[in-house]
Amino acid sequence: MDKFLIQGGISLKGRVSASGSKNAALPILMSAILSEGQNIFYRVPDLRDTRTTLSLLERLGVKVQKGEALTLSANGLCQYEAPYELVRTMRASVLILGPVLAKMHKATVSLPGGCAIGARPINLHLKAFQKMGATIEIEGGYVKAEARRLHGDKIYFDTVTVTGTENVMMAAALAKGETLIENAAREPEVFDLACVLTKMGAKIEGAGTDTIHIQGVDSLSSCEHTIMPDRIETGTWMMAVAMTKGDVEITDTDPVIVEALTRKLQEVGVSVEADSSTIHVKGPTHLKATDMTTAPYPGFATDFQPLWMALATLAEGTSVIREEIFENRFIHVGELNRMGAKIQAERDTAVVQGVKSLSGAPVMASDLRAGMALVLAGLAAHGTTTVQRVYHIDRGYEDVETKLKNLGARIERVS
Ligand code: EPZ
Repeated sequence: MDKFLIQGGISLKGRVSASGSKNAALPILMSAILSEGQNIFYRVPDLRDTRTTLSLLERLGVKVQKGEALTLSANGLCQYEAPYELVRTMRASVLILGPVLAKMHKATVSLPGGCAIGARPINLHLKAFQKMGATIEIEGGYVKAEARRLHGDKIYFDTVTVTGTENVMMAAALAKGETLIENAAREPEVFDLACVLTKMGAKIEGAGTDTIHIQGVDSLSSCEHTIMPDRIETGTWMMAVAMTKGDVEITDTDPVIVEALTRKLQEVGVSVEADSSTIHVKGPTHLKATDMTTAPYPGFATDFQPLWMALATLAEGTSVIREEIFENRFIHVGELNRMGAKIQAERDTAVVQGVKSLSGAPVMASDLRAGMALVLAGLAAHGTTTVQRVYHIDRGYEDVETKLKNLGARIERVS
């Protein structure tokens, strides 16, 4: 298992380019299952999660060619099962359920089970597929879904679910008749997937809003698409710069997708200026405390919360952080406190009393964003921080240490 060794206290300076979005790439790669012919996807980030997705697709019979772009052809699709050994390493494997069920009329997917940040059930995905005519059985830890041909219906999500919206949108693209998704997720990644499906010939209106109409078609052709920039990675660099009093230009991104974070950063004293694809961030000498509550897009993303908490530990005053999306997303609190932070957390609320500085310590990543929060804390802290279980971070940040080194950080990967 790799770990990061970080010598903190250096202000990040220079330019960093955002990679393609992990959470857009995963459903988009899965959407190839629905199409006839060769799909070409550009800017697919090279991450542990995208590699897992490609292994899963290859196992189903999808032909994958790797080069500057990824070429995916599902003409040889012959399997309909996502096994436990792949699903347990990546919950997003559940995204094969919609496309495989629509295309092969049968899908078997291992139930993902809970994860470090919460129980994360998939009941809303399953309820929607049942409404669209599928029979669902849970047997031996697997979801077994079958449907001669799915039919369109009115789907209301009790809770906004990102992958639930994506799964239903993919299935509905090939269903008979019209599907209406209400209380749909408005995340930009849902919109990017809708762009891909539309290029393949799907009839979708309203993606990016909370009401999506999909008129099913009999077949979908192939497409070419460039994956959108990663908004969580973009935001991660913005917070890293703010915490290290740095001065960095983040290129190849889109300021619109990080607006909620930008507003909060400006509120705590960070300078953020942007044009169409570049964001220039300058950290202040002193950060000010402010309160923050997570919410579905366009609100403040739950994926930013651990990183924001790391930032709040260094802000003057008291910040109250409320986590509204996942029930157990404060696992990083104990590790940040080991670095000298003053955080008290109870249920969905954490109270952060800002300190003058953090001190380096050995800490352990418990999941992707919590792990990255510890890296940010290590970059800002005095002394040496060792972040263990870097494999969590490798799931979602491309070339993380190279990008940080180019900004002047002293970070090494040690096996
Ligand atoms: C997506 O997960 C992201 N993953 C997560 O990114 C992100 O944290 C999350 O959305 C919230 O923004 C991908 O896009 C691959 P949800 P998802 O369904 O879709 C409850 C990262 O670090 N719920 O929107 O799995 C659920 O428990 C990650 O990149 C149900 O109750 O999340 C949660 O409380 C981790 N039943 C809430 O809805 C369901 O059937 C939102 O979850 C589905 C969800």
